[in-house]
Amino acid sequence: MRKVLKIALGAILVLAAGGYAFMHSKKPASAPPADITIEPSESRVARGKYLYETLSDCDGCHSMRDFSRFGGPVVAGHKAEGTMFPKEFGLPGDIAAPNITPDRETGIGSWSDGEIVRAIREGIGRDGRALFPIMPYPAYRSMSDEDVYSLVAYLRTLPPVKNRLPQTRIDFPVWFFIKSVPRPAAAPVPQPDPANRPMYGEYLVEAGGCADCHTPDANGRPDPKMRFAGGRAFTLPGLIVVSANISPDPETGIGRWTERQFLEKFAEYKLYAANGSPKVGPEGFTLMPWLKLSQLPAEDLGAIFTYLKAQPPVKNAVETHPGYPGQK
Ligand code: HEC
Ligand code: HEC
Repeated sequence: MRKVLKIALGAILVLAAGGYAFMHSKKPASAPPADITIEPSESRVARGKYLYETLSDCDGCHSMRDFSRFGGPVVAGHKAEGTMFPKEFGLPGDIAAPNITPDRETGIGSWSDGEIVRAIREGIGRDGRALFPIMPYPAYRSMSDEDVYSLVAYLRTLPPVKNRLPQTRIDFPVWFFIKSVPRPAAAPVPQPDPANRPMYGEYLVEAGGCADCHTPDANGRPDPKMRFAGGRAFTLPGLIVVSANISPDPETGIGRWTERQFLEKFAEYKLYAANGSPKVGPEGFTLMPWLKLSQLPAEDLGAIFTYLKAQPPVKNAVETHPGYPGQK
């Protein structure tokens, strides 16, 4: 009897070790980085700047920010140098948004153009690992070739900053499950046509990561039935903000907003973006990239509005500043 037990136990251990080894050795689906050289033309650098600075707000995660001021502006000299996500975000591990300046040792200065493109759109690190999908690569997947090339051209113009961060460490079993998130690029992605407003709006919403913040999770994944319904909470020590419902529900979302009101809401923050934003207490804390998105051209905001209005309305009343009623 004893012997049978021992054998059974041994078998379980071998199976468990085998399973663990298998989980470790499993590679995310990926393709080799494209062998390309991106011409850093002036128009590309300008377009890349628009994507980095305004629409996609790469600074939001990759730069040091001053949350004592409204909107958390970037601290001078610390642009793109990388940050660690605070524990309060409740992430499964210690997640680093890496240094993406052209520093050769601690940034991405020695990466090839193809490697950077692959990281942004396909979520594969230089060493072939799956990036933690808080980096919005599932949304950036639909970014056109020309736009992602423009981002690379712009990134290469940033001042290099030497700042070494610890490597991302993800808890078990999440590191295993995220290996299934990356998908290699299927085909070249064409530039969207701004004249097709709903499609252009969808393109901008993906590149802007709006759904990432405005959709709450169910079972650790964005809840498809609650897309744009808000209610995702973001916390920092002593601070909390909850994303708003931007689905077209008339009572709890933006269903009654006119395009003009939508544009005006963003325009409210233009002066802060231009002149620096004021000091705020916890009642004014927000992660909504108002400082960045207020600079979107009216055509782009209009296309975003058109797309959002065409989505299914979801009833979900949200208090965006819990404890500070009436605060907008
Ligand atoms: C919501 C936060 C967030 C936003 C927004 C974001 N990133 Fe990231 N990014 C991350 C995190 C976190 C990682 C690393 C994940 C990991 O280590 O598993 C990452 C990884 C990367 C990498 C790979 C770097 C390396 O050393 O592995 C590149 C390149 C990158 N991001 C570029 C960008 C660009 C360009 C933008 C804007 C278009 C952007 N990111 C927007 C969070 C973000
Ligand atoms: C990093 C997270 C984040 C991203 C990305 C983000 N939002 Fe938000 N958004 C928030 C939060 C949090 C709030 C609520 C607090 C506030 O209004 O400042 C909010 C509020 C809003 C509001 C105000 C709604 C109201 O009822 O007052 C609008 C409109 C909005 N977001 C639209 C967008 C659009 C469009 C995008 C994409 C282009 C976007 N957001 C991207 C986090 C985000």
